[in-house]
Amino acid sequence: MNEFPLMETSKENIVLFHPHMPAKAAAMVTEVMGTRWIGQGPKVEKFEEEFSKRFGGGRTCISIGSGTDALHLAYILADLQPGDEVITPLFTCTATNIPFLYMGVKPVFADVQAHTLNIDPEDVRRKVTSKTRAIVCVHYGGLPCDMDELQAIADEHNLKIIEDAAHAVGASYKGRGVGEISDFTMFSFQAIKHITTGDGGMLVLKDEALADKARRVRWFGIDRRAKQGGIWQNDITEIGYKYQMTDIAAAMGLAALEEIDAVLDLRKALLAEYEKGLANCRDVTVIGAGYTDRVHAAWMCTVVVERREALQAKLREHNIESAQVHYRNDRYSIFGGRQSGHVNMDALEDKYLVLPLHTKMTVGDVQRVCATLREGW
Ligand SMILES: Cc1ncc(COP(=O)(O)O)c(C=O)c1O
Repeated sequence: MNEFPLMETSKENIVLFHPHMPAKAAAMVTEVMGTRWIGQGPKVEKFEEEFSKRFGGGRTCISIGSGTDALHLAYILADLQPGDEVITPLFTCTATNIPFLYMGVKPVFADVQAHTLNIDPEDVRRKVTSKTRAIVCVHYGGLPCDMDELQAIADEHNLKIIEDAAHAVGASYKGRGVGEISDFTMFSFQAIKHITTGDGGMLVLKDEALADKARRVRWFGIDRRAKQGGIWQNDITEIGYKYQMTDIAAAMGLAALEEIDAVLDLRKALLAEYEKGLANCRDVTVIGAGYTDRVHAAWMCTVVVERREALQAKLREHNIESAQVHYRNDRYSIFGGRQSGHVNMDALEDKYLVLPLHTKMTVGDVQRVCATLREGW
């Protein structure tokens, strides 16, 4: 198997990912550094308010230190208990599924849809048992999952839905923004996401009644507001941890929100150019293209090809980086090893490839990548 080490950023090289640093981020972070609050303080609250207005449909938003922690907190708030089962994507970042292992919850993997690489609702339906408590879905690359179908299964069996929207800031489904749909939605602000706070995440809650608990569990189980109001001798009655975001990070997030529309426009234009440039390329299928009932957040462009390694080698020769990024999670021993019966994933696992897409790129860069693919490999 060929190895493709990371490429240097340079004029000739088209790297796979690159952080987007908003123009005002440095100044806004510097301002915070001169104040009393550099940890969790007023900027965190402001970021939550602004994010809620823009992407949360006014719901309560809880800023977290990472998307992974936000998922872990969502699973706690969904009251998942040891022995419970959760139906969750086989194909995702391990962050979606690792928190279950800490909680003694059993992740039950569902197969992908071949045309989107999102979770397949039909397989979800087949996997429901009397122990199932929740469904987790990942909007792979930024394309929303089939939320109506997933919600129908959840309603039938009284299950919670937790959306892992790490890739999906700015996506929408049938007119509703991702963040305004399910019981819990998690966003990631890790280095290369649409919005970055270095590392960070946001948990959007449908049930306002969970807001106080979410804030306590985020901070050891302590009511931080009461503490700051002068009540220091408080008891701790539920186990919390340290999931919070800092004001330094939130300042970056606020700077990013000011530019997010331009970021989304550019990313969407780049993805549209890939779809156009590869539309008639018979050896290449662009994943998740052609939907009119949902808006793609254009975080990644994934193609399905034959002889993937040969294509990666050819792209390398043309100074273009590519990678798998995510892998089927049953390749990792921690999840119990390889499973059978995931027919779509079995068929696609050697064929999917992620192409460069980020805000340092131009439409011309995408055309260069498409031209390289069209030459064949
Ligand atoms: C699908 C998915 N879920 C969860 C995460 C974890 O988010 P974070 O890196 O912010 O912890 C990531 C990656 O970053 C991801 O791609």
